[in-house]
Amino acid sequence: MISGKKVVLGVTGGIAAYKAVEICRRLIENGANVVPIMTAGAKRFVGEVTLSALASEPVKSSLWDEEDPIPHTTLGQEADLILVAPATARLIGTYAAGISNDLLTATLLASRAPVILCPAMHTEMWEHPAVQENIRTLQNRGVIVVAPEDGVLAGGDIGKGRLAGINAIVSSVEQTLTESDLQELKILVTAGGTREPIDPVRFITNRSSGKQGYALAEAAIARGATVTLVTTVEQEAPVGVDVLCAETASDLRSVVMACADNYDVIIMAAAVADFQPSKPESRKLKKSSKMTNLDLEPTHDFLIDLGEGKSPHQTIVGFAAETEELEKNAMEKLHKKNLDLIVANDVSAPDVGFAYDTNEVLLLSPTQKKAVPLSSKRVVADKILDAVLNLRKKKS
Ligand code: CTP
Repeated sequence: MISGKKVVLGVTGGIAAYKAVEICRRLIENGANVVPIMTAGAKRFVGEVTLSALASEPVKSSLWDEEDPIPHTTLGQEADLILVAPATARLIGTYAAGISNDLLTATLLASRAPVILCPAMHTEMWEHPAVQENIRTLQNRGVIVVAPEDGVLAGGDIGKGRLAGINAIVSSVEQTLTESDLQELKILVTAGGTREPIDPVRFITNRSSGKQGYALAEAAIARGATVTLVTTVEQEAPVGVDVLCAETASDLRSVVMACADNYDVIIMAAAVADFQPSKPESRKLKKSSKMTNLDLEPTHDFLIDLGEGKSPHQTIVGFAAETEELEKNAMEKLHKKNLDLIVANDVSAPDVGFAYDTNEVLLLSPTQKKAVPLSSKRVVADKILDAVLNLRKKKS
C-alpha cells in the first residue's frame, strides 16, 4: 500500500521525461505523496509547471534555491522511496561513482531509502560496457533496476532502451513499498460489465468500466497475493496478474464457477447483466425487419451459487450498485447471497462508481459497517482488501 508514502520522483533529461508526468499522476492516484526533482536536462524536455501541478509539492531542482539550506538531506531522509524515471546514462554513472553534482544525485547519496532506477536511452548507450558495469554496481548495492524495453526509440530507430511500461514502473514502486500481507492468499477478481448479444453486431451492456476491479487486482498483487482477473474489458492488466476473458454473463459464470474452489477470496466487482436477449439472432438484424421489441430473460445470479457453496476457508465479496436506500438494499443482498462482505456504492452520486477514477463506498459485513470516503479506486481497493483480511483474521 503506498497511500501516504513519500516518493521522491527524480526526472532526468531524456525524451521519455514526458512519461514521468503520467507516472506522477498514477502514484498520486494510488495515494502516494510525490515530491518531484527535475534535473536541468529534464526541464528541457518537459514543463516544470506540469509536474508541479500534478505532484504533492512543487518541483525542486536546485541545492541552492530552496528555502531549506540542506534540501538533499531533508529529501533523502524523509523519502520512503526514490524513483528515477527516466534515468539517463549520466545519472546512472554519477550515482554509481558516488558523485553529487545536482540536487537529484545529492539526494540519492544522502538517502537510505530504497531506490528504483528506470533507464531510458539509445541502444548503443544502454549496451555500452560502462553503462552496463554501472548498472551492475548499483544492483549489487541493492538498487532496483526496471530494465528498459525493446521498441521504437527517439529518432525512429528500433532497439532496446525504451523506458519500461508505466504499469511495470508503478507496480515496482507498489511492490517495494507494500507489506506482503496477502502473500498466503489466492484471490479471484471479476471486472467490467458483461455484453449480452442481440445479434452478431449489437449487444446490451451497462456503464461499468472495470476500473474498480482492475484497481483491486493491482492492489492485491502488490500485497503479495496470487491474483486472477476475469475481465470483460480489453485493457492491460497489472503486471503479475493472470487474466481470463469473458464477454457475456454466461461466459463469466462458466469461467468463474470452473475455478472458484481454487480461491480463498472471490471478489465479484463485475457488473453482471441481470437480463439477456432470449433469442440472440445468428445473423445481423436488418433495418427492414422493423424490430419493435426485444424479448429478454433473466440471467442466472451466480454470486448466489458462490455464497451458498462456499467452503469454510473462502471469503466471498459482492458489490451492490444502488441509486437509492444504499445500506438497506446492500444489506439485503449481503444476506440473500450469503456473502462475507458487500461493497455498496451509490452510483448516482457525483464522481462515484462506473467510469470515474474515484469511488465512495460502504463496506458491510454481517457485523460491521465502514464508510470509505470519496477516494481513488486504488485507495478504495486497499480498504476493501483490509476489510477482507480483518474478516479472515477474526474467522481463524
Ligand atoms: N451478480 C452476479 N450475477 C448476476 C447479477 C449480479 O453474480 N447475474 C453479482 C454482481 O457481480 C455483484 C452482485 O451480484 O457483485 C450485486 O449485483 P447488483 O447488480 O448490484 O445487484 P443485483 O443482485 O443484480 O440486484 P438489482 O439489480 O436488483 O439491484
